[in-house]
Amino acid sequence: MKAMLLINHGGPEMLRLGDAPDPVAGPGEIVVDIHAASVNGADPKVRRGNGRYQLDKFPHILGRDFSGVVSALGQGVSDFKVGDAVFGVTDQGIEGAYAEKLAIKAAIVAKKPDSLSHADAAALGLISLTALTAIEDTAHLKSGETILIQGGAGGVAGFAVQLAKHIGAKVIATASAGNHAYVRSLGADQAIDYNTQDFTAIGPVCDVVFDTVGGAVRDGCYKVLKANGRLVWISPAPEGYQPARADVATLRPDVKRDRAHLERLVALLKAGAVRPPEITRFTLADAAKAHTISEGRHLRGKLVFEVR
Ligand SMILES: NC(=O)c1ccc[n+]([C@@H]2O[C@H](COP(=O)([O-])OP(=O)(O)OC[C@H]3O[C@@H](n4cnc5c(N)ncnc54)[C@H](OP(=O)(O)O)[C@@H]3O)[C@@H](O)[C@H]2O)c1
Repeated sequence: MKAMLLINHGGPEMLRLGDAPDPVAGPGEIVVDIHAASVNGADPKVRRGNGRYQLDKFPHILGRDFSGVVSALGQGVSDFKVGDAVFGVTDQGIEGAYAEKLAIKAAIVAKKPDSLSHADAAALGLISLTALTAIEDTAHLKSGETILIQGGAGGVAGFAVQLAKHIGAKVIATASAGNHAYVRSLGADQAIDYNTQDFTAIGPVCDVVFDTVGGAVRDGCYKVLKANGRLVWISPAPEGYQPARADVATLRPDVKRDRAHLERLVALLKAGAVRPPEITRFTLADAAKAHTISEGRHLRGKLVFEVR
Protein backbone atom coordinates (compact mmCIF):
# COMPACT_ATOMS: atom_id res chain seq x y z
CA MET A 1 0.00 0.00 0.00
CA LYS A 2 0.96 3.66 -0.29
CA ALA A 3 1.63 5.43 3.00
CA MET A 4 3.10 8.69 4.24
CA LEU A 5 6.26 7.49 5.95
CA LEU A 6 8.06 9.34 8.73
CA ILE A 7 11.67 8.45 7.98
CA ASN A 8 13.17 10.04 11.12
CA HIS A 9 12.35 12.61 13.80
CA GLY A 10 12.59 16.16 12.51
CA GLY A 11 10.82 18.77 10.40
CA PRO A 12 8.01 18.25 7.87
CA GLU A 13 10.63 17.19 5.28
CA MET A 14 10.94 13.89 7.19
CA LEU A 15 7.56 12.90 5.74
CA ARG A 16 7.89 10.97 2.46
CA LEU A 17 5.25 9.22 0.41
CA GLY A 18 6.30 5.58 -0.05
CA ASP A 19 5.30 1.94 0.07
CA ALA A 20 4.58 -0.13 3.17
CA PRO A 21 3.44 -3.73 3.60
CA ASP A 22 -0.34 -4.22 3.54
CA PRO A 23 -1.54 -4.77 7.13
CA VAL A 24 -3.08 -8.12 8.04
CA ALA A 25 -6.02 -8.50 10.44
CA GLY A 26 -4.97 -10.37 13.59
CA PRO A 27 -7.48 -12.04 15.92
CA GLY A 28 -10.22 -9.54 16.85
CA GLU A 29 -9.01 -7.04 14.23
CA ILE A 30 -10.32 -5.67 10.96
CA VAL A 31 -8.49 -4.14 8.02
CA VAL A 32 -9.94 -0.80 6.95
CA ASP A 33 -9.37 0.62 3.47
CA ILE A 34 -8.92 4.23 4.48
CA HIS A 35 -10.84 6.91 2.59
CA ALA A 36 -9.92 9.83 4.87
CA ALA A 37 -7.57 10.51 7.77
CA SER A 38 -6.94 13.68 9.76
CA VAL A 39 -4.13 15.59 11.44
CA ASN A 40 -4.15 15.96 15.23
CA GLY A 41 -2.15 18.40 17.35
CA ALA A 42 -0.04 15.47 18.56
CA ASP A 43 1.09 14.40 15.06
CA PRO A 44 3.76 17.10 14.58
CA LYS A 45 4.94 16.47 18.17
CA VAL A 46 5.47 12.77 17.36
CA ARG A 47 7.17 13.76 14.10
CA ARG A 48 9.60 15.98 16.01
CA GLY A 49 10.09 13.40 18.80
CA ASN A 50 9.13 15.91 21.50
CA GLY A 51 9.27 14.68 25.11
CA ARG A 52 7.40 11.42 25.52
CA TYR A 53 6.87 11.12 21.75
CA GLN A 54 10.27 9.50 21.03
CA LEU A 55 10.05 6.66 18.49
CA ASP A 56 12.63 3.91 18.27
CA LYS A 57 11.66 2.47 14.89
CA PHE A 58 11.49 4.06 11.42
CA PRO A 59 9.85 4.35 9.01
CA HIS A 60 6.81 5.12 11.13
CA ILE A 61 3.30 5.82 9.89
CA LEU A 62 1.62 8.66 11.79
CA GLY A 63 -2.11 9.26 12.10
CA ARG A 64 -4.81 8.36 14.59
CA ASP A 65 -8.14 9.33 12.99
CA PHE A 66 -9.53 7.43 10.03
CA SER A 67 -12.71 6.68 8.14
CA GLY A 68 -13.04 3.97 5.51
CA VAL A 69 -14.46 0.62 4.49
CA VAL A 70 -13.82 -2.80 6.06
CA SER A 71 -11.82 -4.98 3.62
CA ALA A 72 -10.86 -7.96 5.83
CA LEU A 73 -11.95 -9.57 9.10
CA GLY A 74 -9.63 -11.25 11.61
CA GLN A 75 -10.50 -14.35 13.58
CA GLY A 76 -13.47 -13.90 15.91
CA VAL A 77 -14.81 -10.66 14.44
CA SER A 78 -18.57 -10.87 14.09
CA ASP A 79 -19.75 -7.29 14.55
CA PHE A 80 -18.64 -6.08 11.09
CA LYS A 81 -18.74 -7.44 7.57
CA VAL A 82 -16.56 -6.67 4.58
CA GLY A 83 -17.91 -3.51 2.91
CA ASP A 84 -19.11 -1.80 6.12
CA ALA A 85 -18.26 1.90 6.34
CA VAL A 86 -16.52 2.52 9.66
CA PHE A 87 -14.56 5.20 11.48
CA GLY A 88 -12.52 5.55 14.63
CA VAL A 89 -9.24 6.35 16.33
CA THR A 90 -6.21 4.07 16.71
CA ASP A 91 -5.56 2.65 20.17
CA GLN A 92 -3.33 4.45 22.72
CA GLY A 93 0.30 4.36 21.59
CA ILE A 94 -0.59 3.05 18.12
CA GLU A 95 -0.71 5.06 14.89
CA GLY A 96 -0.88 4.33 11.18
CA ALA A 97 -3.79 6.24 9.62
CA TYR A 98 -1.69 8.24 7.09
CA ALA A 99 -1.98 5.24 4.76
CA GLU A 100 -4.26 3.39 2.38
CA LYS A 101 -4.95 0.60 4.90
CA LEU A 102 -4.98 0.07 8.65
CA ALA A 103 -5.42 -3.00 10.87
CA ILE A 104 -7.23 -2.18 14.10
CA LYS A 105 -9.09 -3.84 16.98
CA ALA A 106 -12.72 -4.12 15.89
CA ALA A 107 -13.92 -3.36 19.43
CA ILE A 108 -12.79 0.28 19.26
CA VAL A 109 -14.28 1.01 15.81
CA ALA A 110 -17.82 2.24 15.08
CA LYS A 111 -20.10 2.12 12.04
CA LYS A 112 -20.08 5.38 10.09
CA PRO A 113 -23.56 6.83 9.56
CA ASP A 114 -24.46 7.28 5.86
CA SER A 115 -25.20 10.94 6.55
CA LEU A 116 -21.56 11.58 7.48
CA SER A 117 -18.89 11.82 4.78
CA HIS A 118 -15.60 9.99 5.26
CA ALA A 119 -13.83 13.36 5.56
CA ASP A 120 -16.19 14.52 8.32
CA ALA A 121 -15.94 11.19 10.16
CA ALA A 122 -12.13 11.27 10.02
CA ALA A 123 -12.19 14.85 11.32
CA LEU A 124 -14.43 14.02 14.26
CA GLY A 125 -12.84 10.93 15.87
CA LEU A 126 -10.21 12.05 18.37
CA ILE A 127 -11.58 15.57 18.87
CA SER A 128 -14.97 14.18 19.89
CA LEU A 129 -13.52 11.45 22.15
CA THR A 130 -11.36 14.09 23.84
CA ALA A 131 -14.10 16.70 24.25
CA LEU A 132 -16.69 14.15 25.42
CA THR A 133 -14.25 12.73 27.99
CA ALA A 134 -13.22 16.21 29.13
CA ILE A 135 -16.60 17.93 29.29
CA GLU A 136 -19.00 15.10 30.15
CA ASP A 137 -16.93 12.46 31.97
CA THR A 138 -14.35 14.67 33.71
CA ALA A 139 -15.79 18.18 34.22
CA HIS A 140 -19.38 16.88 34.55
CA LEU A 141 -20.53 20.21 33.12
CA LYS A 142 -24.14 21.02 34.01
CA SER A 143 -26.87 23.17 32.47
CA GLY A 144 -26.72 26.73 33.79
CA GLU A 145 -22.98 26.60 34.56
CA THR A 146 -20.47 28.93 32.92
CA ILE A 147 -17.52 27.46 31.01
CA LEU A 148 -14.51 29.18 29.44
CA ILE A 149 -13.02 27.19 26.54
CA GLN A 150 -9.50 28.18 25.52
CA GLY A 151 -8.67 28.07 21.80
CA GLY A 152 -12.34 27.78 20.72
CA ALA A 153 -11.66 27.59 16.98
CA GLY A 154 -9.34 24.58 17.30
CA GLY A 155 -10.30 20.94 16.76
CA VAL A 156 -10.97 19.70 20.29
CA ALA A 157 -12.10 23.08 21.62
CA GLY A 158 -14.50 23.68 18.73
CA PHE A 159 -16.25 20.41 19.46
CA ALA A 160 -16.27 21.27 23.18
CA VAL A 161 -17.99 24.60 22.44
CA GLN A 162 -20.82 22.76 20.68
CA LEU A 163 -21.10 20.14 23.42
CA ALA A 164 -21.13 22.69 26.23
CA LYS A 165 -23.84 24.70 24.46
CA HIS A 166 -25.89 21.54 23.96
CA ILE A 167 -25.57 20.74 27.69
CA GLY A 168 -27.03 24.18 28.42
CA ALA A 169 -23.99 26.00 29.78
CA LYS A 170 -23.07 29.62 29.15
CA VAL A 171 -20.07 29.31 26.82
CA ILE A 172 -17.21 31.80 26.65
CA ALA A 173 -14.46 31.02 24.12
CA THR A 174 -11.08 32.58 23.38
CA ALA A 175 -10.09 32.92 19.72
CA SER A 176 -8.41 35.35 17.35
CA ALA A 177 -10.84 38.01 16.08
CA GLY A 178 -11.00 36.38 12.63
CA ASN A 179 -12.42 33.23 14.25
CA HIS A 180 -15.13 34.89 16.35
CA ALA A 181 -17.90 34.36 13.79
CA TYR A 182 -16.88 30.68 13.63
CA VAL A 183 -16.88 30.09 17.40
CA ARG A 184 -20.22 31.91 17.70
CA SER A 185 -21.63 29.68 14.94
CA LEU A 186 -20.58 26.68 17.04
CA GLY A 187 -22.51 28.05 20.01
CA ALA A 188 -20.24 30.40 21.96
CA ASP A 189 -22.23 33.10 23.78
CA GLN A 190 -19.15 35.29 24.14
CA ALA A 191 -15.85 35.38 22.27
CA ILE A 192 -12.68 36.93 23.66
CA ASP A 193 -9.85 37.97 21.34
CA TYR A 194 -6.88 36.77 23.35
CA ASN A 195 -4.52 38.85 21.17
CA THR A 196 -5.99 42.18 22.29
CA GLN A 197 -7.82 41.34 25.52
CA ASP A 198 -6.71 39.80 28.79
CA PHE A 199 -9.17 36.93 29.26
CA THR A 200 -8.60 36.98 33.03
CA ALA A 201 -10.42 40.36 33.09
CA ILE A 202 -13.75 38.44 33.16
CA GLY A 203 -12.90 37.65 36.80
CA PRO A 204 -13.75 34.49 38.77
CA VAL A 205 -17.10 33.77 37.03
CA CYS A 206 -16.49 30.26 35.65
CA ASP A 207 -17.59 26.92 37.05
CA VAL A 208 -15.40 25.12 34.50
CA VAL A 209 -12.44 26.06 32.31
CA PHE A 210 -11.36 23.74 29.50
CA ASP A 211 -7.79 24.56 28.46
CA THR A 212 -6.53 23.20 25.14
CA VAL A 213 -3.66 25.72 24.84
CA GLY A 214 -1.42 25.32 27.91
CA GLY A 215 1.61 27.28 29.13
CA ALA A 216 0.85 30.78 30.45
CA VAL A 217 -2.76 30.37 29.31
CA ARG A 218 -3.23 27.47 31.74
CA ASP A 219 -1.83 29.54 34.62
CA GLY A 220 -4.28 32.36 33.81
CA CYS A 221 -7.22 29.94 33.87
CA TYR A 222 -7.04 29.74 37.68
CA LYS A 223 -7.93 33.44 37.87
CA VAL A 224 -11.34 32.99 36.23
CA LEU A 225 -12.58 30.03 38.28
CA LYS A 226 -15.10 30.30 41.09
CA ALA A 227 -14.23 28.55 44.37
CA ASN A 228 -14.81 24.80 43.91
CA GLY A 229 -14.56 25.23 40.13
CA ARG A 230 -12.95 22.68 37.78
CA LEU A 231 -10.01 23.22 35.44
CA VAL A 232 -9.72 20.50 32.82
CA TRP A 233 -6.65 20.64 30.60
CA ILE A 234 -5.29 18.50 27.78
CA SER A 235 -2.10 20.20 26.61
CA PRO A 236 1.13 18.91 28.14
CA ALA A 237 2.29 20.50 31.43
CA PRO A 238 5.91 20.69 32.57
CA GLU A 239 7.18 17.94 34.86
CA GLY A 240 6.18 18.53 38.49
CA TYR A 241 3.50 21.08 37.54
CA GLN A 242 1.75 22.39 40.66
CA PRO A 243 -1.83 23.72 40.44
CA ALA A 244 -2.01 27.41 41.40
CA ARG A 245 -5.09 27.02 43.62
CA ALA A 246 -6.14 24.41 46.16
CA ASP A 247 -9.81 25.41 46.19
CA VAL A 248 -10.45 24.27 42.61
CA ALA A 249 -10.07 20.83 41.05
CA THR A 250 -7.32 20.43 38.45
CA LEU A 251 -8.26 17.51 36.21
CA ARG A 252 -6.63 15.78 33.26
CA PRO A 253 -9.02 13.59 31.24
CA ASP A 254 -8.01 10.03 30.47
CA VAL A 255 -9.09 9.85 26.82
CA LYS A 256 -9.83 6.22 25.94
CA ARG A 257 -10.50 4.94 22.46
CA ASP A 258 -13.75 3.03 22.59
CA ARG A 259 -16.84 2.40 20.52
CA ALA A 260 -19.18 3.71 23.24
CA HIS A 261 -17.86 7.28 22.88
CA LEU A 262 -17.94 7.10 19.07
CA GLU A 263 -21.57 5.99 19.29
CA ARG A 264 -22.28 8.87 21.68
CA LEU A 265 -20.86 11.17 18.98
CA VAL A 266 -23.12 9.58 16.35
CA ALA A 267 -26.17 10.08 18.62
CA LEU A 268 -25.29 13.76 19.11
CA LEU A 269 -24.86 14.22 15.34
CA LYS A 270 -28.20 12.52 14.63
CA ALA A 271 -29.89 14.75 17.22
CA GLY A 272 -28.43 17.82 15.51
CA ALA A 273 -26.61 18.78 18.71
CA VAL A 274 -23.18 18.91 17.05
CA ARG A 275 -21.83 19.19 13.53
CA PRO A 276 -18.45 18.45 11.94
CA PRO A 277 -15.76 21.12 12.18
CA GLU A 278 -14.62 23.27 9.28
CA ILE A 279 -12.33 21.12 7.15
CA THR A 280 -9.33 21.94 4.98
CA ARG A 281 -8.62 19.08 2.58
CA PHE A 282 -5.28 17.68 1.43
CA THR A 283 -3.97 14.59 -0.31
CA LEU A 284 -1.57 12.36 1.64
CA ALA A 285 1.25 13.68 -0.56
CA ASP A 286 0.63 17.10 1.02
CA ALA A 287 1.28 15.88 4.58
CA ALA A 288 4.28 18.19 5.08
CA LYS A 289 2.15 21.21 4.16
CA ALA A 290 -0.61 20.11 6.54
CA HIS A 291 1.90 19.65 9.37
CA THR A 292 3.30 23.14 8.83
CA ILE A 293 -0.21 24.58 9.16
CA SER A 294 -0.96 22.48 12.26
CA GLU A 295 2.28 23.56 13.94
CA GLY A 296 1.40 27.19 13.29
CA ARG A 297 -1.19 26.75 16.11
CA HIS A 298 -3.76 29.00 14.46
CA LEU A 299 -5.86 26.36 12.85
CA ARG A 300 -9.62 26.62 12.45
CA GLY A 301 -11.34 23.22 12.56
CA LYS A 302 -9.44 20.23 11.14
CA LEU A 303 -7.00 19.24 8.40
CA VAL A 304 -8.13 16.13 6.52
CA PHE A 305 -6.32 13.85 4.06
CA GLU A 306 -8.52 12.45 1.31
CA VAL A 307 -6.77 9.12 0.77
CA ARG A 308 -8.96 7.54 -1.96
N1 LIG B 1 -4.69 14.63 26.10
C1 LIG B 1 -5.33 14.22 25.03
O1 LIG B 1 -5.90 13.15 25.04
C2 LIG B 1 -5.38 15.11 23.84
C3 LIG B 1 -6.22 14.82 22.78
C4 LIG B 1 -6.28 15.69 21.71
C5 LIG B 1 -5.47 16.84 21.70
N2 LIG B 1 -4.60 17.05 22.73
C6 LIG B 1 -3.73 18.27 22.74
O2 LIG B 1 -4.59 19.38 22.91
C7 LIG B 1 -4.07 20.50 22.22
C8 LIG B 1 -5.12 21.05 21.28
O3 LIG B 1 -5.32 20.17 20.22
P1 LIG B 1 -6.14 20.57 18.93
O4 LIG B 1 -5.83 19.54 17.90
O5 LIG B 1 -7.55 20.82 19.27
O6 LIG B 1 -5.41 21.95 18.56
P2 LIG B 1 -5.57 22.85 17.30
O7 LIG B 1 -6.77 22.49 16.53
O8 LIG B 1 -4.27 22.87 16.59
O9 LIG B 1 -5.79 24.25 18.05
C9 LIG B 1 -5.37 25.40 17.48
C10 LIG B 1 -6.16 26.56 18.12
O10 LIG B 1 -5.45 27.06 19.26
C11 LIG B 1 -5.74 28.44 19.34
N3 LIG B 1 -4.74 29.18 20.08
C12 LIG B 1 -3.40 29.25 19.86
N4 LIG B 1 -2.82 30.02 20.81
C13 LIG B 1 -3.82 30.44 21.64
C14 LIG B 1 -3.87 31.27 22.81
N5 LIG B 1 -2.75 31.82 23.32
N6 LIG B 1 -5.07 31.46 23.41
C15 LIG B 1 -6.19 30.91 22.93
N7 LIG B 1 -6.22 30.12 21.82
C16 LIG B 1 -5.04 29.90 21.19
C17 LIG B 1 -5.81 28.92 17.90
O11 LIG B 1 -6.72 29.98 17.89
P3 LIG B 1 -6.75 31.17 16.79
O12 LIG B 1 -6.48 30.53 15.46
O13 LIG B 1 -8.14 31.69 16.93
O14 LIG B 1 -5.67 32.12 17.17
C18 LIG B 1 -6.32 27.68 17.14
O15 LIG B 1 -7.68 27.78 16.79
C19 LIG B 1 -2.79 20.01 21.54
O16 LIG B 1 -1.70 20.30 22.40
C20 LIG B 1 -3.01 18.52 21.43
O17 LIG B 1 -1.80 17.79 21.35
C21 LIG B 1 -4.56 16.23 23.79
